[in-house]
Amino acid sequence: MTIASADHDTIEMELDELIPTLSLKEKVAMMSGKDFYKYYFSVDNRQFGVRAYNAGGGCEEIDLAPLSYADGPRGVRLPNGTTCFPVSMARGASWDVDLEHRIGSAMGVEARALGLTLLSNVCINLLRHPAWGRSQETYGEDPYHLGEMGAALVEGTQSQNVMATAKHLAANSIENARFKVDVTVSERALREVYLPHFKRVVDAGCATVMSAYNQVNGHYCAHNAHLLRDILKDEWGFEGFVHSDWVKGVYGADAAEAGLDIENPEPTFFGEDLVHAVKSGETNEAVVDEAVRRILRMQLRFSRAADPRSYSTSDVGCAAHAELAQEAAEKSMVLLKNNDILPLARNGARIAVLGRLADKVNLGDHGSSNVTPPYAVTPLAGIKNLVDRHIALQSDTSGDPIAAAALAKNNDIAIVIVGYTYFDEGEFIPGDVALEEVSGEEDAHRGGDRSSLRLPQADVDLIRSVAATGTKMVVCVMGGGAITMDEWSDLADAILMIWYPGMEGGTALARILFGDISPSGKLPFSIPAYESHLPYFDKHADDITYDMYHGYTLFDRESITPALPFGFGLSYTQFIYGDPTLEMIDDIALVRVKITNRGAMAGAEVAQLYVGFGNSVIDRPKKLLKGFKRLELEPGETAVAEFTLDRSAFAHYVERDKCWRLDPVPFEVLVGPASNLLKPCQTMLIWPE
Ligand code: BGC
Repeated sequence: MTIASADHDTIEMELDELIPTLSLKEKVAMMSGKDFYKYYFSVDNRQFGVRAYNAGGGCEEIDLAPLSYADGPRGVRLPNGTTCFPVSMARGASWDVDLEHRIGSAMGVEARALGLTLLSNVCINLLRHPAWGRSQETYGEDPYHLGEMGAALVEGTQSQNVMATAKHLAANSIENARFKVDVTVSERALREVYLPHFKRVVDAGCATVMSAYNQVNGHYCAHNAHLLRDILKDEWGFEGFVHSDWVKGVYGADAAEAGLDIENPEPTFFGEDLVHAVKSGETNEAVVDEAVRRILRMQLRFSRAADPRSYSTSDVGCAAHAELAQEAAEKSMVLLKNNDILPLARNGARIAVLGRLADKVNLGDHGSSNVTPPYAVTPLAGIKNLVDRHIALQSDTSGDPIAAAALAKNNDIAIVIVGYTYFDEGEFIPGDVALEEVSGEEDAHRGGDRSSLRLPQADVDLIRSVAATGTKMVVCVMGGGAITMDEWSDLADAILMIWYPGMEGGTALARILFGDISPSGKLPFSIPAYESHLPYFDKHADDITYDMYHGYTLFDRESITPALPFGFGLSYTQFIYGDPTLEMIDDIALVRVKITNRGAMAGAEVAQLYVGFGNSVIDRPKKLLKGFKRLELEPGETAVAEFTLDRSAFAHYVERDKCWRLDPVPFEVLVGPASNLLKPCQTMLIWPE
């Protein structure tokens, strides 16, 4: 969104004049969504996301329609054949902010073509524990990485003059218990671990923030004045509005006082109750005026900004967006193991494609992030499209280990597709179905947190059975988060994490398997060797404490070696890192490292920069990610990855003084291809007072 500051001032002046002319009832009417349940109950099967939601706002006096809202993180969630991108976690594995910006822009174009003014696509909750059912909707376990990816999506989306929502503020990372759990978290952990990415997207201009369902330190998030007022609005200077999460996010009219501007989806409390609260003096009318100003400010800014292009329904699910979905899938798949079997030759070998997911449209969650694209290329279809003319492919998609082994025996290579579906993980919407009572049957409402990080037993049996034939095996894993693999990884010759790869996922997979391109994704989370190495997690928790440590910071603290570290990913080519250098230019540290592609194939490398806090006199993570760069390199090519760091990358939050401080100690700066393969800069860094 581009709007000159003069226009900002004009809008504020207009609002100065307009707001006093509105009645209390008119103002309060802007503070809630409308008609959600009317439509929800009138549609067969009580489906979400079958039409745009009226999400509040709007003002007849100035000819503004209410906000027209849809989800979601992997594409616009309306039943119009919208483009389905790989899930956010997959895109997190691309570490490609430029790509994420283009995806945001494509989502923005489709949103505008469908008449939306608000797109709820920026899910940036931190992945504290991989069992979280909605891990696929976010980008990973690290706050810096989350912030960069989220900011790129915000900027891309809003470049089409549609508002983006960042959700769910805050500490929303247990699905089944989300309506009740109270997360106890220290002010320091909140500031350093659970909020930096929200601050980053607010700084990037995100127009709206959605409050989470859960409680933080004893207050439901929509009623949490410390989060919404003290931090978001007062300290960070957020100019937009906060709206609640949907079906059970608000518990009373006092949420307005706490900083909630819009109650969704209906005026349960922000209707007569709020009018009454103002009339009785319980709530100051200035609170309502401020909410209305925030809502109208954003509506006016976005509706008046000059559009960069025109929009038409032919933009929805168009070929250019399908290509982008394919690019994202290609850049996000992570090669986890390769005993020189990949890439596969396009002729000669006899290949069997196996597994119950091989020909299944498996795009991820069926909750609010669901997308219904015009078509989807399954793994089997993608492989057939690419090599059917050269290779006599055989396939068995029954998932039966005996049938799979019989086929594998007659082939040189087995490509086995395993993993999860929406049934195993995703949003859990209670009410229609009691999750625990569902047993094995396909049910649209299943999802929620995982009880185990293992592959389904049927997949493990299939892998074992194929391995027993002695045929070489490539295992491709679908899912939205960390899956433990130790019980079968030795049996596989190669392992590729392919996520829920979007509508062109099969095309991307085939191109990687057969060497059209090199895999370049890197894990945006750590995979533990044992689940017992992870922080405490209880999907039914009433209360839980989140501390400063999870993922790689926890493994570092406990000196635990994960099965696969944060930032890890193999390639078909080989990248050599030089020694990183550090130079201070004014108050900025400039870090550089030379990277050479020593292999025979073009490829992309994601260089990562971490700050080491080993000398700190206080309790701190051993290191934290503070920069990353993705470089595309031809064979033999060398490029320099450059990073800049300012003091904020080194600071910690001091609770007693309520401010950020720097330790007066030398900090290490480390660069490398993964969190466990880092080279330090020779120069340590001490910040001047
Ligand atoms: C989800 C949100 C979503 C909303 C509206 C909620 O249940 O938690 O992420 O935006 O529904 O569909």
